[in-house]
This record gives sequence, structure tokens and C-alpha cells, in this order.
Amino acid sequence: MGLYEFKTVDGERVVLHGDKKIKVLIDEKTLSKRVKELGREITRDYSDKDPVLVSVLRGSFIFIADICREMKIPVTFDFMAVSSYGNSKVSSGIVRITKDLEFSIENKEVLIIEDIVDSGRTLNYLIKNLEARNPKNIEVCALLDKNVPRKTKNEVKYKGFDIPNKFVVGYGLDLNEKYRNFPFIGYIENG
Ligand code: IMP
Ligand code: MG
Repeated sequence: MGLYEFKTVDGERVVLHGDKKIKVLIDEKTLSKRVKELGREITRDYSDKDPVLVSVLRGSFIFIADICREMKIPVTFDFMAVSSYGNSKVSSGIVRITKDLEFSIENKEVLIIEDIVDSGRTLNYLIKNLEARNPKNIEVCALLDKNVPRKTKNEVKYKGFDIPNKFVVGYGLDLNEKYRNFPFIGYIENG
């Protein structure tokens, strides 16, 4: 499908790709500053602990890589993959574990690292699933919190940004597995 064309149009940075136009929502500097702040907060709260960072693949791979380097504590890592969207922009509502953790979290302090909370279904499912394994506690760090009406409680303790109800890509987030490698968070203006 060819190169991503990074351009500035009418003073706004955009990426053109095929028929898609992607605009910047959160730029690199803003992301980096907030990730550093979150890292400091987590370092402070976990200063006498050694949490397991449970990252939810694939969307959070860039976020976790950046934020873990701002944590000055002896963290360990484990990865899970869940699928709730299939290959589209609309949540199927069905959450499926496609890759489970490698290690036991019994009696551990678990910090879930998520890319984005949309309907909240994925996160709620995940928390319930992990709680059944008897960790000492579970907290959630999510980069993005989408402004959508939800019936469920917001479980995010460490939140990067509130964002409008738009479909976003980049910095790990995808549309049909593409655009994860944008250095910023963008939204698809068309298509
Ligand atoms: P939820 O279960 O509706 O909260 O959806 C959560 C998951 O859907 C996230 O972990 C993402 O993988 C994906 N997702 C939700 N909104 C977006 C978006 O705007 N862009 C890309 N992926 C999204
Ligand atoms: Mg996805």
C-alpha cells in the first residue's frame, strides 16, 4: 500500500496513506512528558514493592516499553493477549484470551498496562480473570481513556490521557493491524 506520507497541511501534521488521512491527536512530546510523569508516580507508589507488569498485547507494546524505563523499581514482565475487536473498528463484545501469562501471579502485586479503555469490557474481563488467580492486588495503568458512556466502574488508577470518542491509531494502536508504528497518537479523519 506504499509509504506513509508525513506532511503538514494548513499548519497541521497529517499522515496520508492510500485513501486515509490521519491527523495528530497527541504528539510525541506530549506523550513522552506524560509517560515520564506516570512512571514517576508508579515509582513513588511502588517504591518498596516489586510489581509484575502485565501488558496486554499487542496495543500496549510501545507504551510499556517507554513507561517501564521510567520506573526505578525492580519490575518483572508478563504478557497476555486478548481479542475483543476482531478486525474492525467496532468491539465485538466478546473477549477471548489468545495468549495467557507465563507465570503465576499468586500473592503478587499486579499492574496491568493497557493501551486504551473504550467500552471497558476488555479491562473488566481481564481484572476478573486475574483476580481469580489470587494476586495480592491489581491496579491498572492505561495510556488512553476514551470518553464513552459506561455502566461499569472506571478501574484505571494511572491514566495518561482522556480522549474524545474517536478511533485512534499509532504508538502501538492499530486499525486492522496497521499504523502501530506511528510515533504519535492520531485519529483517522476519513475512511
Ligand atoms: P474495550 O473492550 O471496548 O474497552 O476495547 C479495548 C481494546 O480495543 C483496546 O485494548 C484496543 O486494543 C481496542 N481499541 C479500542 N478503541 C480503540 C481505538 O480507538 N483504536 C485502536 N484500538 C482500539
Ligand atoms: Mg486492536
